[in-house]
Amino acid sequence: MPEPLADALARYPRVPLTRTPTPLDCLSHLSAELDLDLHLKRDDLTDLALGGDKPRKLEYEVARAVAAEATVLVTCGSAQSNHARLTTAAARRAGLRVTVVLSRDERAALQGNLLTVRLMGADVRLCDTADHWALQDDARAVCDELRAAGEEPYFIPVSGSTPHSCLGYVRAGLELVEQLGERALEPAAIYVPCGTGGILVGLTTALRDAGIECPVVGISVNRSTEQCLTRIDEWWRAVSELLDLDPDRPRGPIEVDDGYIGREYGDPTEACLDAILRMASREGILLDPVYSGKVFAGLCGHQAAGRWPAGASVVMVHSGGTPALFAYQDALEAHLERRLTSGETPARSG
Ligand SMILES: Cc1ncc(COP(=O)(O)O)c(C=O)c1O
Repeated sequence: MPEPLADALARYPRVPLTRTPTPLDCLSHLSAELDLDLHLKRDDLTDLALGGDKPRKLEYEVARAVAAEATVLVTCGSAQSNHARLTTAAARRAGLRVTVVLSRDERAALQGNLLTVRLMGADVRLCDTADHWALQDDARAVCDELRAAGEEPYFIPVSGSTPHSCLGYVRAGLELVEQLGERALEPAAIYVPCGTGGILVGLTTALRDAGIECPVVGISVNRSTEQCLTRIDEWWRAVSELLDLDPDRPRGPIEVDDGYIGREYGDPTEACLDAILRMASREGILLDPVYSGKVFAGLCGHQAAGRWPAGASVVMVHSGGTPALFAYQDALEAHLERRLTSGETPARSG
C-alpha cells in the first residue's frame, strides 16, 4: 500500500507562518457575467504581512533554516518582490535577521513591497540590474560576506521556489481537494499563475493523488510555454522524490499559456489592467498587476474564446501580490482615466 500523501508530507518539518485553510469563495457576479461557476482560492488572504503564496512555501524553507541553525535569511528578487516582503516577515516571525538583494529596476520607488520590506527592517542591497533573475551570484557574494562577519546565512533562491517549498502547495492542494469535496464541486479547470511553476506542481501533485483529473492551466508571467513546461518537469520529479512518488506516473492535463505576459515580466498589459478593474468592480476583490491580474486576464480570454461550457465550475488561485498595485499607480491611473473618459468598462467577453 503506498503511503498516504498527507503522511508523506508530515515527514517534513514546517514552521507555521499562516492560518489555513484559506477560503474558497464563489464569485457570483462574475459567474453570471462569464457564464461559469467561478470560485477563487483566496491565498491572497494568508495572514503574513499582506499575504500571498509565499507563507505556505516559506514554512518549509524556514524550518530548514532553523534546523541549519541559520542566523540570517538571504534572498533576492525584483524591487517589487513579493518574495522579499514575505521572506522578511518570515524571518521576523522566526527571530532571524534578513538580507534581501534586489534589482534597482523601474519600480524601485519606496512603494508597495519595497516599502514593506524597509518597514520590517531588512538589510536591503539594491543592485544595478533590471534582471532580477541574474541576482543569484550577488546574493551568494552577500552570503560569503555575512559568513565572514560570523553569521550563518541561509539562502533562499529568487521567487522562493525549491523542492521543499513546493511542499507548501502540495499541502494547499490537499486543502483544496477537501474544499472541493465539501461543496461537491467537480472543476472543469483550475487556473494558477506560472512563474517558476512551484504552485502549479505542488497543487497538481495533490489533485492527481485525489483523482481530480481536470486541466490545470498555468498562465505564464515571464517564460515561454516550452520553458515553463521544462521547469514543471524538473519540479515534478524533485517533489515526487521527496514524497516517494513515481515521477513517471500520469500527470493528467497540464497546460501553460504564455500569451498574457506582454513585453516582459511585470508588463501591465491592457488585458491585465482590465482584468484587475473587472474583478475589483464586480466582486470587490483586488488582484495584482504581475501575477493574479494576468491569470484572470487569461481566464477571461479563454472564456471569451468559448473554452469552457456554460455553467462549468472553474477555480482560480489568487496567489496575492496586491501590494504591487501601489507601485503601478501610474499605469493604473492612466488606465482608469482611459476607461472612465471613454465610458467603457472592461468588455463583457474579456
Ligand atoms: C504573488 C505571486 N504569485 C505567483 C508567483 C509565482 O509562483 P510560482 O513561482 O510558484 O509559479 C509569485 C512568485 O514570485 C508571486 O509572488
